[in-house]
Amino acid sequence: MSQLSVTEAAMRSFSQANDPRLGQVMALLVKHLHAFVAESQLSKEEWLRGLEFLTQSAAITDADRNEFSLLSDILGISSMVDVVSQPDGGTSSSVLGPFHNHDSQLRPNGVDLSGDQPGQKTWLHGRVMNVQGQPIAHAEIDFWQNADNGLYPAQDPLQDPQNLRCKIHCDADGNFNLLTLRPHPYTVPTDGPVGALLAASRRNIWRPAHFHVIVSAPGYVGLVTELFPADSAYIDNDTVFGVREGLIVPLLPSQNAEVAARYGIATPFFEMNFDFHLVPQA
Ligand code: BEZ
Ligand code: FE
Repeated sequence: MSQLSVTEAAMRSFSQANDPRLGQVMALLVKHLHAFVAESQLSKEEWLRGLEFLTQSAAITDADRNEFSLLSDILGISSMVDVVSQPDGGTSSSVLGPFHNHDSQLRPNGVDLSGDQPGQKTWLHGRVMNVQGQPIAHAEIDFWQNADNGLYPAQDPLQDPQNLRCKIHCDADGNFNLLTLRPHPYTVPTDGPVGALLAASRRNIWRPAHFHVIVSAPGYVGLVTELFPADSAYIDNDTVFGVREGLIVPLLPSQNAEVAARYGIATPFFEMNFDFHLVPQA
């Protein structure tokens, strides 16, 4: 069998799939993987090494740790899926990452998440609107970030599992606000095969500082995204390729005495203002 007929036969083998979309996706996957093997002239040793890599990834994957998801992130595939599925006109989406927790508690709009832990107080506020700029009443914001030591609660037994995370509902004019801390750059987990691949490739292992946000409202496409303080290290070199131009936001010192008095904090504190735009469901 020639190279071409192997590829054609393998693609055709999916033509009777129960779900035509499954058949289409698998045929295209086969087509591009075969082209990769042909173009790289992949050796048998290299192919076996690749299978060993996947086997090692499976061995350390469980409910709390998914090495395949991290592999997708560092290959830029998670970001490519974001880009191709992005509806026109709304705020850009970005990677979810492994530290989202479905159990975040609903807190009042304006909540102080920072408490008395170390870190630079940061007031995050803005509006949730449609693509025409009209407010969306009572949209939900699901928010999470890392602490001043760079760690998420799942990585740090000294943090309360609910630390620096919450859900809040915007007011009737789409306004939201909360007091939190400046987030910090941090490295993706490097103790597995993906870490070994990053080291062997002499790649950066850091992500720039970011807030994670999921914005949802009935009748609109849910938005999974991140906000990146513009002055963060690694803003131009995110190891998971999550930074989009419209998601880089100034994080600036503020002298707003009314906000300082409301939270009982000193000026200057830091402030970030960002409006989210949601796209209606088709
Ligand atoms: C994160 O932002 O938390 C993250 C994203 C992708 C891979 C690892 C961590
Ligand atoms: Fe993160």
